[in-house]
Amino acid sequence: MNVKDKVVAVTGGAGGLGSAMVEKLAENGAVVWILDMREDAAKEKAAEFTAKGMKVFGLGMDVSKEEDWDRVVKTIVAESGRLDVVVNLAAINIRHSVETMTIEEWVKMMEINTGSVFLSAKYAIPVMRAQGGGLFINISSICGLIGHLYTTEAYTASKGAVTLLTKAIASRYGHEGIRANSVHPSTIDTPFVTAVMSDPVKRKQRLDEVPLGRFGTVDDVANAVLYLASDEASFVNGLALTVDGGMTCY
Ligand SMILES: NC(=O)c1ccc[n+]([C@@H]2O[C@H](COP(=O)([O-])OP(=O)(O)OC[C@H]3O[C@@H](n4cnc5c(N)ncnc54)[C@H](O)[C@@H]3O)[C@@H](O)[C@H]2O)c1
Repeated sequence: MNVKDKVVAVTGGAGGLGSAMVEKLAENGAVVWILDMREDAAKEKAAEFTAKGMKVFGLGMDVSKEEDWDRVVKTIVAESGRLDVVVNLAAINIRHSVETMTIEEWVKMMEINTGSVFLSAKYAIPVMRAQGGGLFINISSICGLIGHLYTTEAYTASKGAVTLLTKAIASRYGHEGIRANSVHPSTIDTPFVTAVMSDPVKRKQRLDEVPLGRFGTVDDVANAVLYLASDEASFVNGLALTVDGGMTCY
């Protein structure tokens, strides 16, 4: 997969899933910018990958803040000369049902999970247009495609909006060489998931939902992102790519 010298920004890149994507892209030759609210963690990860010979930088930002997008896009273009791919991964989940969630919590989830994708497009599209093209890879979820019994309504609504915002950007800006695709993982085996699923009944309940009978790995998702970011996927636009072991086939 050719991503050599592409300049890629990954929001939430200091986290478990995010840093796996950063590593996969950077070891294949991309220049990667980790953008994360945890500035120290972003810089530490960047230093760790740089020490292994990869080109990785870290910046602190809050993806729900317009002034932060303005700043980071300007910094990336000033330092790396262009911005080819934005991977929108940073998101939160406040685990309250509709009956127990406050409107403030709802708004916060929409601002971070969906507003971030809107702001990334607002600030990156002019740069992408000027350089002749670009790509958004928006990390949604299976919950951006289906309603799910064990997931909050706010998370589902925020990820569903990411799915269609992706297709809307793909439709409007495709003729300028600016593409957008979304990725839809099912449950991924991260330390958090391992802890939550230590209850064997809960674990079986969740595994029974997946035709392939296992949780996803961070590499499963990172490989999908590597493909979408590569030259080999240059005709792929507006795709909602499931990485879910077939869970959404039911
Ligand atoms: N883990 C799963 O099973 C799973 C399944 C489906 C989809 N996803 C999606 O994958 C993505 C990452 O999930 P994860 O489990 O690795 O999450 P995580 O909480 O481990 O990582 C999220 C990262 O985003 C950063 N972040 C949070 N709010 C931010 C903000 N306002 N501005 C900047 N950075 C911010 C955090 O510091 C963290 O590094 C999310 O979009 C999530 O919805 C995860």
